[in-house]
This record gives sequence, C-alpha cells and structure tokens, in this order.
Amino acid sequence: MQRLTPTLRNDQVDEALISVINSLQTCAKEISFRVGQGELAGVLGSTLSENIQGETQKKLDILSNQLIKEILLECQHVAAVASEEEEGIVLGHPEGEYLVAFDPLDGSSNIDINSMVGTIFSILPVPQDGPRDASMFLQPGRNQIAAGYILYGPSTMMVFTTGKGVRVLTLDQTVGEFLVTNLNLTIEPETTEFAINMSNFRHWQEGMQNYIDDLLAGTSGPRAKNFNMRWVAAMVADVHRILCRGGLFAYPWDARSMDKPYKLRLLYEGNPMAWLVEQAGGAAHSGEERILDIVPTDIHQRVGVILGARNEVATCLRYLRYEE
Ligand code: AHG
Ligand code: MN
Ligand code: MN
Ligand code: MN
Repeated sequence: MQRLTPTLRNDQVDEALISVINSLQTCAKEISFRVGQGELAGVLGSTLSENIQGETQKKLDILSNQLIKEILLECQHVAAVASEEEEGIVLGHPEGEYLVAFDPLDGSSNIDINSMVGTIFSILPVPQDGPRDASMFLQPGRNQIAAGYILYGPSTMMVFTTGKGVRVLTLDQTVGEFLVTNLNLTIEPETTEFAINMSNFRHWQEGMQNYIDDLLAGTSGPRAKNFNMRWVAAMVADVHRILCRGGLFAYPWDARSMDKPYKLRLLYEGNPMAWLVEQAGGAAHSGEERILDIVPTDIHQRVGVILGARNEVATCLRYLRYEE
C-alpha cells in the first residue's frame, strides 16, 4: 500500500505543499496516540478557560491546538495559522506560501465518553498583496489548495483532497505510517439517511421543519420512502459516514441566538468539509449560497451547513425555498 508522499507526488502536488501536509500527518500521529491513551495520558476533562467561540475548552482542545500550531509553524512553507481555539492568527514564516486554518479537535463533547473525534484542516494560498494579518484568511473556500480531516476512531484515518478526488489513508500503528486505503471516495446522489440534531427542531425555519417532517413520514408521506437517522455529534465522524455510505448532514439556521444563528465555523469546518463533499460528487450549501462561494468577513464566522448527497441537498433547498 502506498504512503502519503508518493500519493501526493502522483497527484502532482508541489513539494512545499507536501511538506505542509506531512507536518499535519505528524500532528495526527501525535494526537492519535494521546487520544488512544485517554485517561492514562491525562487528556480527558475540561479546563477553566473559554475559547473565542464562547465554549469551555477541553484539555484535548488546548493540547491539540498547541501541538498543531507548534508543528505547523516549524514548517517553512506556512505563512500563518488560524484556529478555532485562538482569537487571532499566528504568523509563521515570511516566505511561506500557505495559510492553514484548522479545528484542532472536532467533536469535543465526545472526548470524555471515548467516542469519535477529529482534526479538520484547510490550506489556502497566501494572497499576492495586502497586509500580513487575519485578512489573508478572508478568501472563499473555492480558493482552497488542500483540505481534509483526521478521524480518531477505532482506526485513525486521514481523508483529504487537493482537488483531484478524495483520498483516504489509514494509520498503520505497527509501523507508524499512514497508508492509502481508498483512492477515490464518491457520494451517491440519492440517499435514505440523514444526520441532524433533532433536539433543535423547534428553533429551525419552517421550511427546515417541513423537510424533516416529510423525511420522518416515511413511505406514507410525500417522499414515499423510509429514512434512517444518525448523529455522532462530531462533524468529522458524521461527514466521514456520508463520504463512506452517503446521506445528508445539516446544521442549519437556528433561532436560539440571533447574533449566532449558526453553530459551525466557515473556515475550520464549513469550507474544508464542503470541498471534500463536492470532490466526492456531493453538494454543500449554507441554505443561502454554495458554501465555497462565501467570502468571509471574519475568521471565526459561522455558517449554515447542508451537505451530502447531491439530489437530497437539492430537495432540502427546495423546502427552504432557495432558487438557483
Ligand atoms: P467542536 O467540538 O470543534 O466545537 O465542534 C462541535 C460541532 C461539530 O463537530 C458537531 O457536528 C456539532 O458541534 C455537534 O453539535 P451538537 O452539540 O448540537 O450535537
Ligand atoms: Mn469547540
Ligand atoms: Mn468542530
Ligand atoms: Mn474544535
């Protein structure tokens, strides 16, 4: 089975980008080890601090963030990093060609129950001109050069794209290397499975409520088929399932807090997952526009997410009265 670097070379990825992706691979191995040790490594539980998102940070959020930041900033091709856990960006090498935005630990609420978590990353080019500050990251997701995630599950997997399909590698713990286990994940356009946090039903827009009601109605409803539901509460794991066996994932607009009507973050979650899903033949939409076309105005900006099976996303958007 092939290792990561030759796979990237086959895809004609340049050596600078290979070096950044290899740094992420190093982070993944280290975090995978700590996650695997769990309580024994003292990584479970919360801290007393809160991040810029207003969330209580888990020990593993902080540890993963620190580790990824340090390893990436050692790479001479990284000009700056932005993280879900950090208020501002951190500058790296002045000559670096790439920017890396990341969610160091996705699915934080799963840490203490020994359930799936992950790391999500998005690599952007350094803009030609403009100041060397957070504004460098305010590029639409369609500019991404590489994006993906590492899933710390029963096995550790790295799933990524450089725009040439969705590649999957599995960490071989016996040799400490990621080996290619699937070269081209694709998503069927039709599905009978969806993923959404149903407890938010009463906060959704009417169109979203109607859409879910019709999925639940099964064969006797207007959709005339039965749908199954799954929710891992870690976007990495929910999107991974969709890439492996299809489905629709949504974290839509929600009326709980008008200044924060969305939960997921555009730079660290929305964009990388949207590109992976599109590369697999699926669709990814905010409910208002294609996620990859959104021009961010803030690095921590949040976004509605409806992604997965192409035809099912289109059906959901019809309920939301979105017109192409
Ligand atoms: P994070 O742990 O990085 O803050 O992200 C959590 C996100 C995402 O992974 C998941 O889909 C969602 O929150 C789960 O939300 P609920 O708590 O509503 O299930
Ligand atoms: Mn968080
Ligand atoms: Mn997350
Ligand atoms: Mn996170």
